[in-house]
Amino acid sequence: MSDSSEFRFLKACRGEPVDKTPVWFMRQAGRYMKVYRDLKEKHTFLEMCKAPELACEVTMQPLEVLDVDAAIIFADILLPLEPMGTGLEFSAGDGPVIPRPVKDKKAVENLRPVNAEEQLGFVGDAIRLVRKEIDGKVPLVGFAGAPFTLSSYMIEGGKSRDFTTTKLMMYEATDVWNLLMEKVCVMLVDYLKMQVNAGAQALQIFDSWVGCLSPHDYKTYIMPHLKGVFSELKKLGVPVINFSTGTSTMLDTVQQAGGDVLSFDWRIEIDEARKILGADQPVQGNLDPVTLFAPLPVIRERVHDILRRAGPKGHIFNLGHGILQHTPVEHVKAVAEMVHEFKYE
Ligand code: CP3
Repeated sequence: MSDSSEFRFLKACRGEPVDKTPVWFMRQAGRYMKVYRDLKEKHTFLEMCKAPELACEVTMQPLEVLDVDAAIIFADILLPLEPMGTGLEFSAGDGPVIPRPVKDKKAVENLRPVNAEEQLGFVGDAIRLVRKEIDGKVPLVGFAGAPFTLSSYMIEGGKSRDFTTTKLMMYEATDVWNLLMEKVCVMLVDYLKMQVNAGAQALQIFDSWVGCLSPHDYKTYIMPHLKGVFSELKKLGVPVINFSTGTSTMLDTVQQAGGDVLSFDWRIEIDEARKILGADQPVQGNLDPVTLFAPLPVIRERVHDILRRAGPKGHIFNLGHGILQHTPVEHVKAVAEMVHEFKYE
């Protein structure tokens, strides 16, 4: 496609009419695909992220099989933690481990500023390779973790159940929390700018765990920082998706933080969400990833229900969270087809 503004994914991000509702999947590259598992026999996850040729190869894997309207660069939200100085490991089965978690003022002060071009340049190189490889077929999405979700890993040292240490830093050492937020936000803006300069045509901010907060705490401890990030990103001239889970009871609050598109999970029907957000707010979602394990007629009923409720404009079909590890590839493929075949009344 010669004029990239004509991609139906980008049009839907801007709320413009589309010929078909665009569809892509969070975690569309990964372990549910045999080609990915085969490559992973030979390389660790971090090796794949850091070698642009491998990251490019993995980014392209789902595009060979699925009729999706966007690619997402193969990377991880936690990659910036290494240059910030906390370390980062992925141990088989346990998910990410941060060897030197940030628990107090001294640790936050010691976090290093990141030069994304120099220290995370492999992500930019992978983006440039994918743009060449993809040959204008679909746009490429860049991404980063949101300040809360990223900081929660830095503070807890990995995935957390109740985020006690993170919340206690907010409540007991608000100045330390704010300093951490400032450092993370500066890094995020620089990192995302680098991705857009390298060729990312849209951005998604992953706030996977922010739904653990009350609306009050979101407004008090997150909103001011997140607003700053979204207003800086606006200057980059690409659509920005504000993704979160567990936030269906505070979508209006999340909307105030910013982002051109709001992406939320399956805990609210998409038409109910649109009533809260306003008909002009582009939205993304919101199929439960577990639905992809169901028999095809059940999946079709759920997919069509979401499309009907969302309506033909300003909707990007996606899951409410990433594809799960043992998801049948054939079902993912079928969902993309179901979305594209759907006729609105
Ligand atoms: O969506 C894509 O296809 C792009 C690639 C991508 C990955 N991680 C690759 C990955 C993206 C967008 C992410 C984002 C990410 N990473 C998030 C936000 C989205 C979400 O799911 O909430 C989070 C919280 C992380 C942190 C992270 N990375 C976790 C918790 C894990 C372990 C998860 C698990 O299922 O074990 C990772 C590892 C990871 N990131 C894998 C992949 C393909 C699995 C690595 C492997 O092959 O073992």
